[in-house]
Amino acid sequence: MFPLSKPLTLLRWRRVAARVRHHSSLTTELIENMDKKATWDRFYTENNSRTPTFKNFEWFFGFDSVRDFIMPLLQTKSHPDALLQVLDMGCGTSALGPCIYRHSPLPVRVTCADISPIAVRLMQEHIQAKAIQPHNVSSQLEFVELDCTHIHKHYGSSSVDLIVDKGTTDALLRSKEGKGKAALVLKQCLKVLRSSGSLLQFSDEDPDARLLWLETEAQEPGVMAADVGVQEVGELRGVCYYCYQVTPRCIVQE
Ligand SMILES: C[S@@+](CC[C@H](N)C(=O)[O-])C[C@H]1O[C@@H](n2cnc3c(N)ncnc32)[C@H](O)[C@@H]1O
Repeated sequence: MFPLSKPLTLLRWRRVAARVRHHSSLTTELIENMDKKATWDRFYTENNSRTPTFKNFEWFFGFDSVRDFIMPLLQTKSHPDALLQVLDMGCGTSALGPCIYRHSPLPVRVTCADISPIAVRLMQEHIQAKAIQPHNVSSQLEFVELDCTHIHKHYGSSSVDLIVDKGTTDALLRSKEGKGKAALVLKQCLKVLRSSGSLLQFSDEDPDARLLWLETEAQEPGVMAADVGVQEVGELRGVCYYCYQVTPRCIVQE
């Protein structure tokens, strides 16, 4: 489907998988089945068993590399009394969600959601032990086991201000059976986002491929439409990373 970007991308993902230093069967499982709960349960179990104390695992990079894309979107309240609703979709054991909770001056409710109950439990235990102090005392942080193809069961329509996705859509798009799930997740994100809200996808996929995919999948005539943009995050370890921003556009019913 994306003949120019695919071989390079696969190589990059092999490198990411190899960074975890698991034996080759997990690397193969990771590359082909990143849309499967069992793959990630195994990944987080094996990764965690390698260190005596918990350590956040960051796909691509951590919060500091992307804070300038995220924090400016949390400067205005959508309702005077409400918390800004933030979802880290496919949070894994990343510190991204906890960092947003910690640094946001405005009160936020950060929900870190993942299909893997292992990742969710590790994060819950870690946060209980660490007790992070948020910048705003009204802010809240939660970890939930959630298959993001069912986001609409957790959130009402037009109720979320910001969704961050670091590597999750990439994982679905690159799996043998995940492409349909990636499109479903995107549509659900657009449904639960407020009209002022945004979805940020952090990815190593080239804009030629990802913009075309986003523009195609985010449009449903008479039902949904979105504006799509891209900015470079930068180059790390010789790989260029991007921030794709998707914002719902109002559909005018005729
Ligand atoms: C590439 S990892 C990225 C993890 C994390 N965002 C980070 O930056 O380290 C993809 C994550 O998506 C999760 N995932 C895969 N399919 C999912 C789904 N349908 N719903 C929720 N999470 C999913 C996996 O368990 C995994 O934690």
